[in-house]
Amino acid sequence: MNFLGLTNPDYSNTYLNRRGFSFSMATARACGKIILFGEHAVVYAKPGIAVPVKRSYSLVTVSAADAFSYTTDFEISSSEAKRLESAFDIIFDRLDVKEKKFSMEIESNINPGTGMGSSASLAVAAIRALSGFLKIEKTEEQVNDIAFECEKIFHGNPSGLDNTVITYEKPVFFRKSSFEFLTLKKQFYLIIANTGLKSSTKEMVSTVRKNYDSDTVRYGKIIDEIGDISFKAKELLENGDIKTAGRLMTRNHELLGMLGVSTIELDALVQKALRAGAYGAKLAGSGGGGNIIAICERSQKDYVFEKLKGSSKEAFITLVS
Ligand code: MEV
Repeated sequence: MNFLGLTNPDYSNTYLNRRGFSFSMATARACGKIILFGEHAVVYAKPGIAVPVKRSYSLVTVSAADAFSYTTDFEISSSEAKRLESAFDIIFDRLDVKEKKFSMEIESNINPGTGMGSSASLAVAAIRALSGFLKIEKTEEQVNDIAFECEKIFHGNPSGLDNTVITYEKPVFFRKSSFEFLTLKKQFYLIIANTGLKSSTKEMVSTVRKNYDSDTVRYGKIIDEIGDISFKAKELLENGDIKTAGRLMTRNHELLGMLGVSTIELDALVQKALRAGAYGAKLAGSGGGGNIIAICERSQKDYVFEKLKGSSKEAFITLVS
């Protein structure tokens, strides 16, 4: 992948080619994300907490061309291509594109279907790169707003949590489409371990919806408890109590299991992380596959990582600060 080693996420420029003709291009990068608390419950207006993951990202380059075309450095099915093109249409419309005289090169190291916000990351990078190319100023709020519209194409009825944490690249406490940035008193480590199984956010959200509609009282209670956990976890993280936040994280996982979105593989990775000494662990994202996270202090992280690496498709450590 050609990630150009960018330190600044956005830039646009005019270059001269060998014959002396000028051409324009703009590039932008957007991070990935992981949800610490509250996935699925956020769809029911309960709070959730998510943090950016900067080692995971999408990079979009827009270059002058005679007509619009795009490439991706990952495989997409025809239905995914259709959704991507519908998201482009939203972006073109919201940026008031009159003539599509450009091409888009899309690169990403975020595995789709793993709960790391691949679609929101791609949308944010594309909006930023195209605004840079067209020399249009867009505030973060406007970028977030357009990315949310794209997320509706990808996921049907999203909460807006993914696009928000990815746009602002800061830990957020999110509730009912409003949010506040979270100041963590103490940094901590997350081990992110992948089951190797992909899932569709749209399908998992609709599984929870069906369960909820079939027994609103029972599932409503589970969702309420997840919401309460997010409120408590916010306070704990603001006070640097990682250990207690870890216990709540494990309880959050049990509740996600009761909602019907955990799997044997996710449960096994969570158990492995806890046995290795992590303060807590849970599935992260929509479930049905994808990743688990384990929360650790510096002294625990390498051991937990080694244990999870041996039992997962891929694992890495990320510092949250
Ligand atoms: C997906 O990353 C998170 C979910 O809560 C869906 C959403 O918030 O839109 C499962």
